[in-house]
Order: sequence, then structure tokens, then C-alpha cells
Amino acid sequence: MKLMITGGAGFLGSRLARALLARGSLAGARIEHLVLADQVPPSAALTADARVEARVGPLLAQCAALAGEHFDGVFHLASAVSGECEADFELGLRSNLDTTRALLDALRASVLAGAPPTRLVFSSSIAVFGPDASALLPAQVGDTTLPAPQTSYGTQKLMCEYMIADYTRKGYVDGRSARLMTVAVRPGRPNGAASSFFSGIIREPLAGQEAILPVSPQTAHPISSPARTIEGLIAVYEASREALGGRLALNLPAVNVRVSEMLDALEAVAGRTVRERVRFVADPIIASIVANWPSAATAERAARLGLRPDADFADIIRQYIADCALAPGGAEALKGMRD
Ligand SMILES: NC(=O)c1ccc[n+]([C@@H]2O[C@H](COP(=O)([O-])OP(=O)(O)OC[C@H]3O[C@@H](n4cnc5c(N)ncnc54)[C@H](O)[C@@H]3O)[C@@H](O)[C@H]2O)c1
Repeated sequence: MKLMITGGAGFLGSRLARALLARGSLAGARIEHLVLADQVPPSAALTADARVEARVGPLLAQCAALAGEHFDGVFHLASAVSGECEADFELGLRSNLDTTRALLDALRASVLAGAPPTRLVFSSSIAVFGPDASALLPAQVGDTTLPAPQTSYGTQKLMCEYMIADYTRKGYVDGRSARLMTVAVRPGRPNGAASSFFSGIIREPLAGQEAILPVSPQTAHPISSPARTIEGLIAVYEASREALGGRLALNLPAVNVRVSEMLDALEAVAGRTVRERVRFVADPIIASIVANWPSAATAERAARLGLRPDADFADIIRQYIADCALAPGGAEALKGMRD
């Protein structure tokens, strides 16, 4: 089978690529060709696999050339992230909305030429939910909570969910949207997502560096590990339409946790010195974005697919430490644990 991951050089895209290549098959079919489409090149470790083809450049420009090419499956992960979309309205519209429509039209062209619809998994986000005077947020957002996004990023994700549902209704793709919870712990450097600090307050202290907490320790949020998130994307791809139970987006499972509990878990796993590297410095812009996000989520439809959240936040930290211990140069990321 021939697959594509857009955003295939990113954090989750490259992890998904590694997971798919290691499995060797998806939905019972052997993976022969995996296209990684991204504006930046994927790692050499990925392109060393003979099944991988890297296509580097803005996805919108790549989509014109895609028409007529058939993919059995696409994981559409390329996206400008929340902080970037809030700072640059045009970037969000182009990278998220215009690009997704162009991708869907390229896949539709292949159906109009006689091919079966491509199965497409879209990485939506918990950022589609937000409080509105007409639809207040419940204590926990679920699969049937009315989305009322309060950021451009969340709005673009919701518009893409609806486009995918309608292209699916018309038979142009076999689309499914999974709403990812905030994924932590993200390795490497902070990114432009407003949620970046959820990883930073764990990652930086473990590396021996100070981390800034820009929101109140009482802030609560649904978090998922990279491993559970990739497992969720693959399960949503493999699920039959009947098992999914509809065309609308579904939540992926999460651990609902307060920042103070995240820091308690950090101390339990790595010690008090590590925890003390986190310093609270309020950032009103980040706090106002986060205040409009859900503080907890449920995932009933994902549970029916057999998906479960991580055991607890300490387990998420342990997974990050285990990943770093295996990664080349990963010892540097944990040097704060030895001090
Ligand atoms: N990581 C999270 O906590 C989280 C939470 C909710 C949803 N998501 C969604 O999951 C997906 C993957 O997230 P991630 O954390 O891996 O992000 P990431 O930023 O690490 O990866 C996204 C990749 O997309 C690429 N990209 C962005 N715009 C592009 C464009 N116009 N053309 C080509 N490539 C482009 C980037 O170069 C990057 O490599 C995104 O759709 C994101 O919105 C992530």
C-alpha cells in the first residue's frame, strides 16, 4: 500500500512514520511506499528506509502535483500551531485551511478518475472546544460537546473537520478526524504552540535547565503521551466506519491533570531539585489562550475502539525518560537528573 504523512518531519509525524515502518502493515495491508510531505526534510534515519520518499516544500504547492496520484491512506498532520496562528492570521488560513482543502481536492481528483476513496486521518485538536456565552464549557468536554473555538487555530481545525466530514459524505475520501489532546513530553526545543510549556516544565528541569511556568499551578488540562497519541491515530485509521460510529470527530483519550499534580509527579519521578527548577512567571497572553481551553476531557468513542489513556502523569514522564535514554545523544536531555 502507498501512504502519505503530511507533516511527516514533525514531532508526531516522524514518530508515526517510525511506528508504521516498524509495524510494516496497516489495516492488514503491507506498507510498500511511505511519502513524508513536509516543508522541512525528515531525519536521515527515516529516509534511510527504502520505503520512504521525502517530499520537501509547502504542502499547498505540493497538492497541485498530487492530483491524479492515488494514495491508499493519508495521515494529515501538517499544520501551523496555535501560537503561530494567533500571531499570523494569514499563515493559519493558508497552512491549515487552504492547504487542507487543496489536499482534499487532490484526493477527490483521484476518485473522479476512478480510484477508490483514500482513507484519511486528520489530526484535529482539543482547541476546537472553548467557552461561549451561548454554550458554556462543561467540566469535561466529550465527543458530543458543541465545539466553540476561541482561537484561529481551533477554528481552522474545526472547519477542516467539517470539510473532511462532507468530502466523506460525498464519497471523495474516507475521512476521520481525531481530536488530539495536548501531547507531552515533547522532546527538543520549545515550539510556537501556546501549550508548549506543558512539556517545557518537565523537559527543561530534567535537562538541568530552568523552566518558566506561565500559568497558575491550578490550571488543569488533558494530556496524552506521544505513544498513546500515535496508537490513537493508527486505531482511528484502522477502524471501520461502523466502529467509528459516525463521520464527526472523536476525542482521543487523555489523563486529566493539574499543573501542580504534574510538578508533584516530576518530583516523585526525578526528585525535589529537578522540580525546583520550575519558576512561575505569569504570561497574560498564554494564560488568556489556555483559560479558553477545556480543563478536562472524556473519550467514549475512542474507548469503544479499545483506546485507553496513560496510567497517570508520572507514567508519561517515565516514558519520556525511557525514550531519551534510547535516543542518540539522549543522555544530555536527562543530565539534570544526575545533579
Ligand atoms: N503536539 C500536540 O500537542 C498536538 C495537540 C493537538 C493537535 N496536534 C496536531 O497534530 C499535528 C502534528 O503536531 P506536531 O506536534 O507533530 O507538530 P509539529 O509542528 O512538530 O509538526 C508539524 C509539521 O508540519 C509541517 N508543516 C506545517 N505547515 C506546513 C505546510 N504548510 N506545508 C508543509 N509542511 C508543513 C512542519 O514543518 C512540521 O514538521 C498537527 O496537526 C497539530 O495541530 C498536536
